[in-house]
Amino acid sequence: TLIKFVYLTLFLLDHFIILQVETSLKLITPLASGPAEPPRNKVTVVGVGMVGMACAVSILLRELADELALVDVIEDKLKGEMMDLQHGSLFLKTPVIVADKDYSVTANSRIVVVTAGVRQQEGESRLNLVQRNVNIFKHIIPQIVKHSPNCILIVVSNPVDVLTYVTWKLSGLPKHRVIGSGTNLDSARFRYLMAERLGIHSSSFNGWILGEHGDTSVPVWSGTNVAGVSLQKLNPDMGTDKDKENWKEAHKMVVDSAYEVIRLKGYTNWAIGLSVADLTESLIKNMNRVHPVSTMVKGMYGISEEVYLSLPCVLNSTGVSSVVNMTLTGDEIGQLKKSADTLWGIQKDLKDL
Ligand SMILES: *[C@@H]1O[C@H](CO)[C@@H](O)[C@H](O)[C@H]1NC(C)=O
Ligand SMILES: *[C@@H]1O[C@H](CO)[C@@H](O)[C@H](O)[C@H]1NC(C)=O
Repeated sequence: TLIKFVYLTLFLLDHFIILQVETSLKLITPLASGPAEPPRNKVTVVGVGMVGMACAVSILLRELADELALVDVIEDKLKGEMMDLQHGSLFLKTPVIVADKDYSVTANSRIVVVTAGVRQQEGESRLNLVQRNVNIFKHIIPQIVKHSPNCILIVVSNPVDVLTYVTWKLSGLPKHRVIGSGTNLDSARFRYLMAERLGIHSSSFNGWILGEHGDTSVPVWSGTNVAGVSLQKLNPDMGTDKDKENWKEAHKMVVDSAYEVIRLKGYTNWAIGLSVADLTESLIKNMNRVHPVSTMVKGMYGISEEVYLSLPCVLNSTGVSSVVNMTLTGDEIGQLKKSADTLWGIQKDLKDL
């Protein structure tokens, strides 16, 4: 009879609703009663493009959420992605997967990952791109906050540092609850490339890329080490133009690798998805792990404007719990300030924030 029940449920759902209820009443004896409780570890992903779905799948496979919600404006694609993931339920530990273009589906989220937005068009200025995304975020962010006033927002859309600032402004949330994925991915790429050269695993090479995500990111060569052994002590020229071994090339490869992957496959998604799931884990499990993510840096390293840049942040279930005060060289601080000025140059001209 169990097999019959499953058969009827799966294939004859529409025609046998009444019979199905009768059978399940015969099968299952309820013990507990009372209203259903809201989910405790709900994660929402806004945008079901390549990046959004890589984030969703990575979060599902890490078994971090008891409910996953997806939102997008393209309804067919959204429903298709939801159904495809639901059909994998047998192999997942997230019992509820929902999707809708209406943000009420995101209610009670702990974490909301924002991957929505438009990409730069050929010849388009950065300011113009940001302004187009501001107009989209003006629709998205207030709706997220309305349905999940206690959530933590992780912004992934590019240019991530400016859009995290935009999200912070539009959300009205305290700064510790609005985080940009920032240089978390740049640092992961750096650790992979450096570790590869040293013949060890990425996790055993310690190195940080900070500042602005992308072309002007700042590698902190003074902090690179393996098992506490400083690489710069072994090779004082490391990271400079004088270096005969040209380790600086590894940072250049980090910057170029995004373009290279896009040239080869059209977009990047897996590494960013995996890195966002890692951030999600630290937040959901209150781990107090340190990650390079984009945070509001006004007042740090002599930066006087409200800009978001990546620094090593301690993440707990409240969001950014604190920021590690890195020992940076004068040159590195100069690079951070330069990025801050560039970002503020764009932000100050944004309309309708
Ligand atoms: C997270 O860190 C902040 C700042 O240190 C602290 O006030 C808060 O209680 C922490 N949250 C949890 C859940 O531990
Ligand atoms: C951070 O560390 C530097 C020394 O490396 C120190 O001068 C500065 O005061 C520290 N900042 C804070 C906020 O403690």
